[in-house]
Amino acid sequence: MSTSDSKLAQTLATLGVASAEQVHALFAELRTRFDDDVNRAVDENSWKALRDAWQGRKSGVLTLVTDQWLRPAAPELKRAVGASLNELRAHVDVQIEARRATIEAGAETAASAKDRIDLSLPGVIRPLGTHHLIRQVFQEIEDIFFSIGFSVVEGPEIETPYYNFEALNIPEHHPVRDDMDTFYLELPPGVPGPLLLRTHTSPVQIHTMEKRQPPVRVIVPGKVYRRDNPDATHSFMFHQIEGLAVDSDITFCDFTGTIDYFVKQFFGEGVKTRFRPSYFPFTEPSVEFDASCVFCGGSGTAKTGGTCGKCKGSGWIELFGAGMVDPAVYGFVNYDPKKVSGFAFGIGIDRLAMLKYGIDDIQVFFQNDVRFLRQFP
Ligand code: DAH
Repeated sequence: MSTSDSKLAQTLATLGVASAEQVHALFAELRTRFDDDVNRAVDENSWKALRDAWQGRKSGVLTLVTDQWLRPAAPELKRAVGASLNELRAHVDVQIEARRATIEAGAETAASAKDRIDLSLPGVIRPLGTHHLIRQVFQEIEDIFFSIGFSVVEGPEIETPYYNFEALNIPEHHPVRDDMDTFYLELPPGVPGPLLLRTHTSPVQIHTMEKRQPPVRVIVPGKVYRRDNPDATHSFMFHQIEGLAVDSDITFCDFTGTIDYFVKQFFGEGVKTRFRPSYFPFTEPSVEFDASCVFCGGSGTAKTGGTCGKCKGSGWIELFGAGMVDPAVYGFVNYDPKKVSGFAFGIGIDRLAMLKYGIDDIQVFFQNDVRFLRQFP
């Protein structure tokens, strides 16, 4: 119990207060104590404690002063005590109310600081992703073929040997299978197999012709798999776009014209094309398309002088294989080879992207190094 508390439990007579001066001194002491208490009330709870301690009806300081000091006061001191008490009460009431307002306002400032949005802050920057270069090249190529009436179809990456080989006129012991040895799936007992990861997008030619009657004009973008060891030009997974056009009157001229149109759209009007005889079991005749070297402009001489390293001085760069659909393939899909003709091609996307964008290592497509990816926003 503090001095003033113990004083509040006594009357003025017992405290030996007998003059107006002594009364004033006593109240001054009490007022100092109150001012200290007010300053310690910093939040709602401590403010409530302050209010109860001073204004509480039963045992608040003001009540005690009234009961212990004023009521029993000697008649000649009553006036002084009454006046001092009124002064103190007025002070207490004003200060407690003022404190309440301060605390409430403070709480409001704190709350609004939390909610306030500072428009001058830079904000949260969430980097936007972009399409991978391979995806971009897919889209470029698709757009070119869309412009001449092709549409996109897709097919499964897991195939049966029938679709990947046999129906494409590649029987079991055909030597080209050696180049296309691939990943066969280990299947749980009872699951009919074998199944393999497709080595090319050509099986989708078969799926498409099984489902549709001519005219067919489709391109097939997708992933393909081969048991290749990774190096600058090989990867066990890469990307192709297959093309297939079959109708009643498609000629070799339509074929080469279409390819030439595509190559010029993709590499630029100035690029020339040529084709050389080649061999694929599912096309007859088969060709390999070349473009005039995009690095030396077809001259065979590097811009810096000397032989162009990209085309090895030939002025030509091999692009992709293609051909007129072999009539034997129509036999597998119940098309009448006497009534229909068409062409097919298989474009390696990674290779074309490397040629167009001057990339000399296929592995960078799969390493996902953002320093590489950011160059193709
Ligand atoms: N499927 C062949 C490969 O992956 C590429 C190809 C060549 C596709 C000639 C064709 C084509 O459609 O006509 O090597």
